[in-house]
Amino acid sequence: METPPAAAIRARNASKLFLDGAVVAFRQLDLEVRTQEILCIVGPSGCGKTTFLRCIAGLIDLSAGDILVAGKAVSGPPDSVAMVFQHFGLLPWKTVYQNAAFGLAMAGASRETIRDRVGHYLDLAGLSGFEQHYPYQLSGGMQQRVGLVRALAINPAILLMDEPFAALDAQTREILQNELLELMERPDERKTMVFITHSIDEAILLGDRVAVMTARPGRLKEVIEMPFGRPRDPEAVRSDPRFAELRAHIWHQLHTAPKRAAKTREVA
Ligand SMILES: Nc1ncnc2c1ncn2[C@@H]1O[C@H](COP(=O)(O)OP(=O)(O)OP(=O)(O)O)[C@@H](O)[C@H]1O
Ligand SMILES: [Mg+2]
Repeated sequence: METPPAAAIRARNASKLFLDGAVVAFRQLDLEVRTQEILCIVGPSGCGKTTFLRCIAGLIDLSAGDILVAGKAVSGPPDSVAMVFQHFGLLPWKTVYQNAAFGLAMAGASRETIRDRVGHYLDLAGLSGFEQHYPYQLSGGMQQRVGLVRALAINPAILLMDEPFAALDAQTREILQNELLELMERPDERKTMVFITHSIDEAILLGDRVAVMTARPGRLKEVIEMPFGRPRDPEAVRSDPRFAELRAHIWHQLHTAPKRAAKTREVA
């Protein structure tokens, strides 16, 4: 079997400035995402998390430095990367099936491939029977599952998740966290994942490592290795005494960012 490169994503001295440098989204970021790990990123609002994901996805260019995906510098959207957005990003005039098939169809996949792959993930996501429904006929949790199915169906090596569960109620969010953990622990479904969240609990629960960013301009403050193995039992993790210790530590890291940026801090 071919051994994948150790680092799936490597940001080197990466900076992104907007408005001719008036806004620095993040500065001199050095970060490595290991192959098939789940790296969660937490950081105050406005510290450049979404911008960083968009740079990895090749949707916007860096101002300085570079980002390597599978060893190659990103210049335009890499084939191996899919992104899941906070607000579902579904097309309201398309059915569940058409939305889920959208990425594959854009990539020029055959009808059979689309049917097989979309069918497989709709089934895993518990959406069989809803293929002909429209997004407005679904709950928020179901809509987010369609967004995830659309990303998974293209079989990306790397999944970029931008606060995918933020718009959901606490209970639905917990259900989807558990489902995602279960899915990522299947050997044939495991991916490299960068997962942005404002929830410290979610980061600890899902992540192999948690990266903490400072307030804008975003810099990397610390990357913390999670001590929980895989497969992971969410209930066991939540009740582990180390969970509370990690939560307190990350909270402290987030709340000791430089004072001048404190007004943009929204992480509780
Ligand atoms: N296209 C743009 N033009 C100008 N400024 C931008 C643009 N996109 C983002 N920014 C700025 O870059 C900074 C980082 O934004 P970004 O959306 O990456 O933050 P974030 O960490 O994802 O925040 P949140 O947690 O609120 O989602 C912000 O100050 C934002 O105003
Ligand atoms: Mg964001």
